[in-house]
Amino acid sequence: MTLVDRYAVFGHPIKHSKSPRIHRLFAEQTGQTLEYSAQEVPAEQFQSSVAAFFAEGGKGLNCTVPLKELAWNYADSKTERAQFSKAVNTLALQADGSILGDNTDGIGLVTDLLNNHAIPLLGMRILILGAGGASRGIIGPIIEQSPQTLVIANRTADKASQLADEFHRQGPITGYGYETLENKQFDLILNATSASLSGQLPPLPAGLLASGGNCYDLAYGNEPTAFVRWGLENHAAKSLDGLGMLVEQAAEAFFIWRGVRPKTQPVIELLNSERQS
Ligand code: ATR
Repeated sequence: MTLVDRYAVFGHPIKHSKSPRIHRLFAEQTGQTLEYSAQEVPAEQFQSSVAAFFAEGGKGLNCTVPLKELAWNYADSKTERAQFSKAVNTLALQADGSILGDNTDGIGLVTDLLNNHAIPLLGMRILILGAGGASRGIIGPIIEQSPQTLVIANRTADKASQLADEFHRQGPITGYGYETLENKQFDLILNATSASLSGQLPPLPAGLLASGGNCYDLAYGNEPTAFVRWGLENHAAKSLDGLGMLVEQAAEAFFIWRGVRPKTQPVIELLNSERQS
């Protein structure tokens, strides 16, 4: 009997996750035989659900909100980028039976910006809105691209400065509250707050986006998010949402599990065309 390799995404809620679709498209495209399902897992059941999944022969898991910090704790070992981000979105069964934790969100974002949209990071003035888990996951891979400055702005200013302190050895990073953004300009503004999902925006001063600058919302939806709309209203060269990042982080996870790199462009185009119709 041949057993098909099993993968899944755990989250709460998980009903609208696009991950099963994306991974099935990758598998089809690369000729890999695997199963990928979505499982509703509340935080209280995370430990037992992950243990059961691997005990029953599962090969790899994606973990999404609100389980990434729990997955970080669960992993037996972690990649360096996961170590810093204190969150894990990919668990992979290793040959010795241990579980490796990685975080592919940041590299997914950077790949989408650089490869899919030709938005440079080197030498740029970059602003991240928000100082929660989503910001933490992307800071390391962004600093690696050597921006001129990286600023974290947050409603709770202390959280922004503490987060910046954690990464200050890696590059020119500072953190403060939104009021300090007055009279400053950035070439790229990334929204990593959860505000956009509920149609809200942090208070952003006029003139914050430099001429020719770009906006990127880590969140995505069928309609443009509040922040994507803000970017368009503020004359961004490009104002994008996180669909490309979602597909790129999935491709990185697929590579970790299968050793094969799927093409992301056709999958992004397909998902984009579906939400436009
Ligand atoms: P995630 O893991 O998605 O980052 P989180 O850790 O709860 O979620 O962080 C949510 C982020 O969105 C925080 O930076 C939060 O700001 P505070 O730290 O001040 O709470 C930010 N956020 C949420 N709603 C917001 C709003 N209406 N305006 C501005 N920032 C908001």
